[in-house]
Amino acid sequence: MSVTSPLLQASDACVLEGLRAIVGEKACIEVASDMQPFTTDYRKLYHGKALAVVLPADTQQVSAVLALCFEHNIPVVPQGGNTSLMGGAVPDGAGNAVVLNLRRMNQVQEIDLLNDTMTLQAGVTLQAARAAAEDAGRLFPLRIGSEGSCQIGGNLSTNAGGTAVLRYGNMRDLTLGIEAVLPDGRIYSSLRGLRKDNTGYDLKQLFIGSEGTLGIITAAVLKLMPLPTASAVAWVAVDNPHAAVELLTEAKRVAGQAVTAFELISGPALTLVLESMPQLSAPLPAAHDWMVLIELTSGGDAESLDAMLMGILEQGMERGLVTDAAVAASLADARAFWMLREEISDAQTRAGGSIKCDISIPLSKIADFIAVASAQVLALAPDARMVIYGHMGDGNVHFNPLRPKDVTPALFLAENYARVSHAVDGLATRQNGSISAEHGIGVAKRDDLLDCKSSVELELMWQVKRALDPKHLLNPGKVLPGLPGTA
Ligand code: MLT
Ligand code: ZN
Repeated sequence: MSVTSPLLQASDACVLEGLRAIVGEKACIEVASDMQPFTTDYRKLYHGKALAVVLPADTQQVSAVLALCFEHNIPVVPQGGNTSLMGGAVPDGAGNAVVLNLRRMNQVQEIDLLNDTMTLQAGVTLQAARAAAEDAGRLFPLRIGSEGSCQIGGNLSTNAGGTAVLRYGNMRDLTLGIEAVLPDGRIYSSLRGLRKDNTGYDLKQLFIGSEGTLGIITAAVLKLMPLPTASAVAWVAVDNPHAAVELLTEAKRVAGQAVTAFELISGPALTLVLESMPQLSAPLPAAHDWMVLIELTSGGDAESLDAMLMGILEQGMERGLVTDAAVAASLADARAFWMLREEISDAQTRAGGSIKCDISIPLSKIADFIAVASAQVLALAPDARMVIYGHMGDGNVHFNPLRPKDVTPALFLAENYARVSHAVDGLATRQNGSISAEHGIGVAKRDDLLDCKSSVELELMWQVKRALDPKHLLNPGKVLPGLPGTA
């Protein structure tokens, strides 16, 4: 809808007219209340403003929007499903940016069964991509809790990971080519579906994981895998994170590639979900400090996979690693176990006041990291609920201390956010870990890069930014700390 305010500058009015001409009146949102869902982030922590929100229908329209904005020096914030946990997909409060949302670009364009690839537009949701692959008899293996809302473009721009990275890798590993529009409107394409291509720099990798700061990804060619024919799932109580790592090693020894997911869940994380969704029930009769969710999958028969899982659990019990276990007897059981795991993130959002640290550490150090980081956090915030969970199989823990029940989210975060995340991230950095394993940097972690990247890394990042986005218009204020030229 177009309602041009009399307070708009003449150049803004000219840009708005141009945007309407490109995407059509209905796909150019200009009323503040209608823009609000696009200018507020998923966790409702960042409330920005925009000149307009545009919803282009195809790559040519994205290109025309970017060329127009380039000409008029208008910042552009790319947005997919707006599920960023780091405030990476919303504009700041200046009100001068255009939000470019890709949700209308939601076509699966080709499934090539002989090449085992899928070509699709960036606005396809992850759920729709997985369903399209499955309808064609293939697996697209990226699996994350927000799959119904998050989009392939956002998955690519944050190099999303999730619960099956252990087996299949993250978005970088699953991508053969992309199409991206550059800030001046030029279109880069590597949509060729090649598994081998050594013709110079692998440019697509610059755009993957760059959170829309270098170009806007509009399409991709993704790898497809064989659909598994069998799965075996267990919810397992372990003595402590050290025991979990030992159990993972045992699982990989027995089941090799079949180990698809290995998720760690702390007692407080499960309690939070059960309190927030009383209709769900705990898989085990007693409460435990530490649990893991193990999933094996294969293209073979269910009996041999079940036998492998039982073998892993028996070994675990014999060695004192496992204290109790529930094996899913049906698909419904398996889904119920997974729901408990996948609801942790939303339960935290509902509770408010959680400090989201997204750490990766070599597996050999992860258990010690959890112990030391927990002690440091509890020294700073003694009553914090230690919501610790995540993809232990690939060395990624979501280390998210949560406010005590009798402290408001605002007070808990004001008192603890900076010092707790500084302590946890600092410990990870000193151990050669990462402060953002899979959630990206956005605005929330931007300045923390100053503490964990070398001056050479930061300068190279800025040099790449300047080369691709010389006017500094794409997703400004995200990822790169410091001012242009000062890093
Ligand atoms: C998850 O593993 O559940 C996601 O990364 C989301 C989150 O940690 O909040
Ligand atoms: Zn995760």
